[in-house]
Amino acid sequence: MFKNIYTKCLNHAGYAVIMMDNLETERRKYQEDKTDLSRQFENLETQNRKLHENKTDLSRQLEDLEAQNEKLQEDRTDLSRKLENLETQNRKLHENKTDLSRQFENLETQNRKLQKDKTDLSRQLKNLETQNQKLQKDKTDLSQQFENLETQNQKLQEDKTDLSRQIEALCCERDQLLQERNSLHKEREEMRQEMESLRHELNSLAQENEEVVQGNFERMLQNSETTCVFVNKITSGALGRHHRSVFWGDRLLTLDKAAGFYEEDKFKDCHSQINQPQNYDQYAGPDGIAWRLNTLVWAAKCALNLPGDFVECGVFQGDMSWVVANVIDWAQVDKTFYLYDTFEGFSSKYTSQEDFPFNPKFLDFANKVYQIPGLFEQVCERFKEFSNVKIIKGVLPDALDEESPEKIAFLHIDLNSVKPEIGVLEVLFDRVVSGGIVIFDDYGWLEYLRQKRAEDAFMSERGYSIMELPTGQGLVVKR
Ligand SMILES: C[S@@+](CC[C@H](N)C(=O)[O-])C[C@H]1O[C@@H](n2cnc3c(N)ncnc32)[C@H](O)[C@@H]1O
Repeated sequence: MFKNIYTKCLNHAGYAVIMMDNLETERRKYQEDKTDLSRQFENLETQNRKLHENKTDLSRQLEDLEAQNEKLQEDRTDLSRKLENLETQNRKLHENKTDLSRQFENLETQNRKLQKDKTDLSRQLKNLETQNQKLQKDKTDLSQQFENLETQNQKLQEDKTDLSRQIEALCCERDQLLQERNSLHKEREEMRQEMESLRHELNSLAQENEEVVQGNFERMLQNSETTCVFVNKITSGALGRHHRSVFWGDRLLTLDKAAGFYEEDKFKDCHSQINQPQNYDQYAGPDGIAWRLNTLVWAAKCALNLPGDFVECGVFQGDMSWVVANVIDWAQVDKTFYLYDTFEGFSSKYTSQEDFPFNPKFLDFANKVYQIPGLFEQVCERFKEFSNVKIIKGVLPDALDEESPEKIAFLHIDLNSVKPEIGVLEVLFDRVVSGGIVIFDDYGWLEYLRQKRAEDAFMSERGYSIMELPTGQGLVVKR
């Protein structure tokens, strides 16, 4: 039992030793914690002191700031007041500026006026100086003249005495002359009677002369060549004196008409290039075929805005189509100009002497004119600058089968022969678009009356009528 108690005591003692050790360790730890806490406490104390000092400093700074703030508030109030003053001053200055600008403008205007007045016054001053110099000179001249007049006056006084003497002598002479005048009166009366009888004689001679002139005039009018000379003299001379305008050419005479086409430089220039005496026109009026060309140019300009191409049947040297192409600047137009001709005159297939009953010699005469060697090549050369002109050599209307446009805006027919003209119309008229224009060059000329009749019939069948122009052309506008 003692052994057990001893063992238990030993166990308790061991346990007590361990406990003691633990307590010692805890005590040492406690001591260390206490030292740490004392150190922390000291630090906190130091911090507290420091904070207290800071607080005191901050209170002081706060006071200072509050004092500054008060001052700033005062300054701000002052500044606001000053700002208001400045704004008031600014507004005032702005108003002053506007006033000054207005005044400145007025001053500028006055200055300009003053400058102008100054220039005017300088000019006037110069004029006055010149006048003054002139007046000085005039004054000197007048003094001299006055002296001269004085001298003359003395001389005149002397002359007056002499003249009084002479007047007396002249009075005597006058009496003698009066007597002479009476006898001269008598002589004059006798001469007047003689003159009267001479005037009678002269009148009867003038009457005789007038009859002779009248007779000569009548004889002159019976001869076509002298009539032609007379007509040309009247149109190019006498008529111009009594009218505002005279157009004489292509057997067309107009008086006092505007003929506005001459105002277009290009037209005038082209016309002058092709204008030459025509062998069919004995009068050779200076205006040539200008009016006919005007019709064509007008029609071409109208047709430019329509669909379809341009066609001329009967080209010869290409004068008319060349003028049209140049005036409307054809190279820039998006169309083709078809020019058809045999370039060898009439075709015996379609034209014979019977076609010209009013002028049986016409066919031979015209063929001689139209058959120019190398004509086709010449015309091609003339139009070479226009890539959109097609020159087709062939007999009409057959040549249309080879090549011809489907739509036509401008159709000019100038074949001087009835069958080919109607043949062409039969093929092409239906292809003329609505608004398109057909011009017949020979329509109104009596020489080609057969063409007129056939074309009237053709158009009448289709419900159209042709407008006859004073140029001899015919005009149809397609519906
Ligand atoms: C009066 S000229 C044409 C003039 C032309 N428009 C101008 O600007 O001077 C008539 C032309 O028609 C041509 N001609 C006549 N009958 C013809 C036909 N059946 N076929 C083709 N051309 C023909 C002639 O060769 C002639 O050149």
